[in-house]
Amino acid sequence: MLSNSSTTTLKSIVREGLKNLQEQGVRSVPVDDQARGILHSWSVSPPAAPSRGEPRELESPEQKIDYLRRRAANWSAARRLGSLREKMVFSVGDVHARLVLVGEAPGYDEERLGEPFVGRAGQKLNEILRAMGLRREQIYITNICKFRPSMGANQGTANRPPTPEEIAACLPLVLAELRAIRPVCVACLGATAAHGLLGGEGSVGSLRGIWHQLADNLPVRVTYHPSYLLRNESLSARRAVWEDMLAVMEKLELPISDKQRSYFLPK
Ligand code: URA
Repeated sequence: MLSNSSTTTLKSIVREGLKNLQEQGVRSVPVDDQARGILHSWSVSPPAAPSRGEPRELESPEQKIDYLRRRAANWSAARRLGSLREKMVFSVGDVHARLVLVGEAPGYDEERLGEPFVGRAGQKLNEILRAMGLRREQIYITNICKFRPSMGANQGTANRPPTPEEIAACLPLVLAELRAIRPVCVACLGATAAHGLLGGEGSVGSLRGIWHQLADNLPVRVTYHPSYLLRNESLSARRAVWEDMLAVMEKLELPISDKQRSYFLPK
């Protein structure tokens, strides 16, 4: 693990090197999936190169997602780290969805059932979706890391967030999913997903409230993870998440009633 100052130096060397190449007319540089993920997490755009994720002959989102599901099961960038558990938990939902939700990583329940957000945080997420007038089947739910992070032999039901390296290893899969689905917008649930997808740092409090743009002008909203609401049931926390979801509903041009607009406002 590099110190913050070494990482900063390394970032500027890489940025400068890529800029020099660009000035010399180089338009593409071969980078493997892991390097691509790390560059993305540093907010450095790797020069365009054909992605290993999506062969051109796969045309439909169904085909592309199916292909990615199979690739993910043997994703060597993740396996190589040795810090993620064996079972891959792929995304769930509609491959034609207009909204993609990005969570952190599978936990105990998700690993057991092989589906994202099926534990307590998942129930909270379902509640939020119901309040929006949506069902899980109508959206696409993915995790920035597709394997439950390991905590050793006696892990039991405990979970931990994925490290930046674990996220970087899985990120090419998530970016390929987004390219396959081409949603209207994305919502990152929690800081881990936001940092992984958007790069950079900062608390959810500092990242929420605006639309971020991913490549291809894909709008991304950041909100608190549902498990935050399990720990903090205050009206202000619930309202904050709800305001983010109202912004998402507006972006999706979903109908919003006066009653929905006023959820979780102080009486
Ligand atoms: N939390 C997440 O971020 N993802 C899941 O799939 C479950 C809980």
